[in-house]
Amino acid sequence: MIVSDKIGRLIADQEGWTRKMFEAAIQMRKEYGDENIYDFSLGNPDIEPPTELRNKLIDALCHPAPGMHRYMPNNGYVEVREDVAAYLQERTGLSFTPLHVFMTVGCAGAINILFKTILNEGDEVILPNPFFWEFKNYVENFGGVVRLVETDEDFQLDVEAIEQAITPKTKVVLINTPNNPTGAVYSEESLKRLAKVLYKVRKRGQEIYLVADEAYRKLVYTGEHLPDIFRIYDLVMSATSHSKDLALPGERIGYLAISPHIAEVETLVSGLMIAIRALGFVNAPALMQRVVGEFQRNSVSIADYRVKRDLVYDTLVEAGFDCVKPEGAFYMFPKSPIPDEVEFVFKMQEEERILAVPGRGFGRKGYFRLAYCVPLETIRRAIPGFLRIGKQYGGRK
Ligand SMILES: Cc1ncc(COP(=O)(O)O)c(C=O)c1O
Repeated sequence: MIVSDKIGRLIADQEGWTRKMFEAAIQMRKEYGDENIYDFSLGNPDIEPPTELRNKLIDALCHPAPGMHRYMPNNGYVEVREDVAAYLQERTGLSFTPLHVFMTVGCAGAINILFKTILNEGDEVILPNPFFWEFKNYVENFGGVVRLVETDEDFQLDVEAIEQAITPKTKVVLINTPNNPTGAVYSEESLKRLAKVLYKVRKRGQEIYLVADEAYRKLVYTGEHLPDIFRIYDLVMSATSHSKDLALPGERIGYLAISPHIAEVETLVSGLMIAIRALGFVNAPALMQRVVGEFQRNSVSIADYRVKRDLVYDTLVEAGFDCVKPEGAFYMFPKSPIPDEVEFVFKMQEEERILAVPGRGFGRKGYFRLAYCVPLETIRRAIPGFLRIGKQYGGRK
């Protein structure tokens, strides 16, 4: 076989439901035409980056700085890291410096170089379930072991269950808030309780790092201040990206922010520099770094996403689906009306041409994920289909 045994197993598993459904959508598009497919399967924003950002990009190309296409320090341009550090300092009140910012190839690149740097073979990473499936690869890439811990019925952290899952091998708790696939935003109170547990473990001599995937940090609908994990716990690394907040997923730009409370930051950064080279990224894309530095306080329109969230949520409720209202990101995770959500998802696809991803693709059977980062018109046109299929399974409960 051309592929390794490990990759062969991953292919055979066919648990990459997101991709699977995306490919099915391409087939259906050919058959029925674009306007007759309602594709909620992929978290690929349908919007364009801010105009000012595009202008900045044009400016950077029209007035090239000498050497702008050359290699650079592995952690990125210092002036860009200064911009990001200033933003983080302003947001958290902590003394971030450019050393605490490491520019990366998206959020995915940030977590991979971090795990390569900090995980020993057999180290355990606690992961609240449901979860972004790629996390499993990011952990296992470097010999780590995933320990799944179920969230509660509102997809909030079950801190007691996390405490029970901690073993002497636990090195990391990996949280993702706002969350993919549920849209949950973890409450400040639960994060504080989690921090308390981790400090308690510290007293026994074990250091556990809290790694926060904050790819959706700016996409929140509560209108309230999002809890700042850097102010809640000390051993924090936050991976973020501009894939969602500036709608640049194809450009692969993000960063890792390291808490100023971490005393061993220099050793950590030296390790990250080795990891980014060893994994072949070398550095984050140069042109994109130049552009995003000054857009740290910007984001695409939250109001537009809120309108979409409300429309999808209200429709699902009217159709009788059991669904927790998401507070962030652009995902919804309703309960499947039948236990086998794969059967339901395929039925919805065949009968209504609505594409979703089965919950088992995120570690939770019996649910399905809708990514509503699609044109409003697509949502409007899908409404009758959602209502029909909901009614078929008993309608409003
Ligand atoms: C939770 C989460 N983390 C990371 C990523 C990947 O982000 P990036 O494009 O910045 O690598 C995604 C993409 O969908 C995501 O949902």
